[in-house]
Amino acid sequence: MTSEDRIPTGIAGLDRIIEGGLRDNTTFLVVGSSGTGKSTFAMQYLTYGLEQGENALYVSMEEPPEQIMREAEMLGFNMKKYYNKELFFFHTKGKDFVELVEEQLPALVEANKEYDVKTRVVIDPLTPLIWSVKDKQEQREIITKLFYTLKQLGPVLITTEEHAAPGETIGEDVLIPIYLSDGAVHLSYRPIGGAFNRSLEIVKMRATRHGEEVYPYIFVRGIGVVARTNPPVSADDLRKYDDMFEKAIKTARDFGAPDTFLVKLQAVMDNWSYSFSPKETLQILFETYNITSSMKNKDAQQEAIVVENVTTSSSESLEEAGNMEYVEESDDMVLEDTTNSHEGDLIDIDDLSELEDLIN
Ligand SMILES: Nc1ncnc2c1ncn2[C@@H]1O[C@H](COP(=O)(O)OP(=O)(O)OP(=O)(O)O)[C@@H](O)[C@H]1O
Ligand SMILES: [Mg+2]
Repeated sequence: MTSEDRIPTGIAGLDRIIEGGLRDNTTFLVVGSSGTGKSTFAMQYLTYGLEQGENALYVSMEEPPEQIMREAEMLGFNMKKYYNKELFFFHTKGKDFVELVEEQLPALVEANKEYDVKTRVVIDPLTPLIWSVKDKQEQREIITKLFYTLKQLGPVLITTEEHAAPGETIGEDVLIPIYLSDGAVHLSYRPIGGAFNRSLEIVKMRATRHGEEVYPYIFVRGIGVVARTNPPVSADDLRKYDDMFEKAIKTARDFGAPDTFLVKLQAVMDNWSYSFSPKETLQILFETYNITSSMKNKDAQQEAIVVENVTTSSSESLEEAGNMEYVEESDDMVLEDTTNSHEGDLIDIDDLSELEDLIN
């Protein structure tokens, strides 16, 4: 999936840690205890879409539209100007949730199919529905159906109240929605001696390489949330890291590391999305798989590889063979690497800082 296929949430700072936004027709859960900013996330998400000319559907199981729009106004969002034009509410207080999920929402989705307008959906909060169904299996079924139905409209942002017991990281009552969502973010709020410490973490994000840190966020009136996320890895850094990986692969090869290890290094290189240097990771991998220069010293003669029984069949070995030439040595046929064997280029794996020095 390319970033063009992503739908920006509009929550400042969030999109850059989830590959640009949500995938269409997926669900994204915002979990947090009271006052963490769930409704702010929801309103910011909807308003962003409305400002881009999209439609929005707000499913409320508690507060009526007027109250939601009043609260939005206090946070600096003008939802009223879109009301019943591009922004529609589905207010279900006191209604039968089974009927809502089984009949009303599917009918609404069906009717909407006639219009080809992008629609983002919010359920804020899902908690009344969760609590109305005690049996876990039934809960799972009704939430599955609800998500399935609403996803057909567009990306869906759902908020869920968390009531974590002391020591729990994430409360038990939000586990089923988390399992059933395509993505989830957890909001925390620790009032410490009058100072407020708010932070978010991505719990999961299917098919996405997402940021894995704890990111502080603040509220800014008129915008909503601004998460202080790290900028994505710069092209310059990526190039530096790639150089480092290439050196490491070359060193491993020169040490005589098995192909399986080289494939692993290549995979780490292809998937490295962190904003920090892969140096430690490389050191750990060399250590874990016992790839050391002593491998090479052990068989001093193994600068060259005995190819007596080698029948080059895989494309990889063919590729390698391109850099090799046959040399007659006593009775054995050996392959010598004619391109790579330059002692000076090797890195000392016990001190990969050498690697960084080389690159810098
Ligand atoms: N611009 C702002 N400056 C300071 N604080 C703000 C600002 N905007 C919102 N807040 C505070 O952030 C809190 C979170 O608001 P929000 O309604 O989004 O939380 P919530 O998680 O939906 O809470 P609840 O579970 O009660 O519905 C509110 O208590 C509000 O006082
Ligand atoms: Mg709220």
